[in-house]
Amino acid sequence: MIKTDCLIVGTGLAGLFTALNLDEKLKVCIISKTKIEYSNSVLAQGGIAAEYNDDELLHQEHINDTLKAGSYLNDKEAVEFLVENAYESIKKLISFGVQFDIGADNKFLVTKEGGHSSRRIFHSGGDATGKNVTSTLIAELMKRENITFIEETMAVDLITENNQAIGMICLDKFEEYQSIYAKKIVIATGGIGSVYNATTNDLLATGDGIGIAYRKNVIVNDMEFIQFHPTAFYDEKNHSRQRFLITEALRGEGARLINVEEERFMKKYSPKLMELAPRDIVSQAIFREMYDTWTDHVYLDTRHLDAKFLKNRFPTVFNHLKNHGVILGVDLIPVSPCEHFLCGGIETDLNAKTSLKNLYAVGESANTKVHGANRLASNSLLECLVFAKSATEDIHKNIKSKQLVKEIDYNNIVSYNYNYKPIRKKIGDYMDEHVSIVRDEAGLKLTLKTLKKIIVNLKKYPNATKNYYETLNLATTAFLITEQALNREKSIGCHYRIN
Ligand code: SIN
Repeated sequence: MIKTDCLIVGTGLAGLFTALNLDEKLKVCIISKTKIEYSNSVLAQGGIAAEYNDDELLHQEHINDTLKAGSYLNDKEAVEFLVENAYESIKKLISFGVQFDIGADNKFLVTKEGGHSSRRIFHSGGDATGKNVTSTLIAELMKRENITFIEETMAVDLITENNQAIGMICLDKFEEYQSIYAKKIVIATGGIGSVYNATTNDLLATGDGIGIAYRKNVIVNDMEFIQFHPTAFYDEKNHSRQRFLITEALRGEGARLINVEEERFMKKYSPKLMELAPRDIVSQAIFREMYDTWTDHVYLDTRHLDAKFLKNRFPTVFNHLKNHGVILGVDLIPVSPCEHFLCGGIETDLNAKTSLKNLYAVGESANTKVHGANRLASNSLLECLVFAKSATEDIHKNIKSKQLVKEIDYNNIVSYNYNYKPIRKKIGDYMDEHVSIVRDEAGLKLTLKTLKKIIVNLKKYPNATKNYYETLNLATTAFLITEQALNREKSIGCHYRIN
């Protein structure tokens, strides 16, 4: 048994930034299902949206762009909070040693992505923002004596007492149950990409925080709003479910979308914004084009752009494509949409508090309601920072000295060898076919029925393995997406229903 003041589950940007903002007098334990350095945040290429100019109008435009991308289903107060705290978050990262790209004039190099009315996206190492930011924060955290990192340990169930969270049951690296008791618990488990057969996420993203919260009746909502990134690299030889992301910033620098007949098709769907329309519109347009041209991809065209500039500005993309025989600025890049981001999640307020006392959620697993029906590009890392900071402020104000402990006996759950791969595949197949970019009632109902059966069976035969809990979390997350997609009958944002 471990006792700590604050337990953080997950080592992506939201978890790391929470830990760094906590008072060094507090004992903090941060757990990772695998290794500290693995998370979805590491893969983030684009950057962090933030207005650094004092001009009130520019701040208002960031608010307006966020609301417009989210089809105005966002919580306006939460969006204002996000935008007003954006530049402070960037400054805090800089104080920890993060180096954002700077031009020859010594000013920040900021870029544009879909849905943004001006250049306001900070980036680092060109397209290595997530990697640079997380590695800098990990190095900073390693200096802190109040922080304990525990790797290869998976949170599986919340421990509650009198309607409050008091701890977490975990499976350690030997797949033995361990209890970690904490006065405050922060879920920062990231996304849900593995629910689908193709995702830009790290495949570790199995919706663990959402499964854990839902099992304890914590409010989880807006799950139907799954964002599909328009431009994941389409590589026929890649058999992994994880797809390489081609950052939207490439379109921000002028890359165009053409179909296999070499037609620049965005003029039919968004004549003003073209390739820089919000992601829901671009992904739905690509889906339509693939259907009409009987193919499973379109192309990103960078042939009209300066190849040398592209190589310097997008080193991660350049090198990956080169290793796969495609030269940026010379060749057409085959792309297609795939799962990228969950806009909803565990409902939280401005202080990242969930509906369960002493439980917070930050990052992609949280539903801060800033994204509404579709997230604006590069608002996700920003959301991690702003709400992680506000969570810590609330923790500082409300942490009590008393630690509650309640013994839990998990010895009745045995561990046995079972291959969950076919179940995971079945979940992915149903979600791809019926709960993807285009949805209909019959497909949603069929999927819901199948998922219900899977969950009943999984619960009947509990197994003390990480694989079991991941599969249960995947099935639960898929169920919530499908159920909430069925309940929302009208199309809006990234939820598109044909009937
Ligand atoms: C990208 O670089 O296109 C992804 C960044 C984001 O999801 O906002």
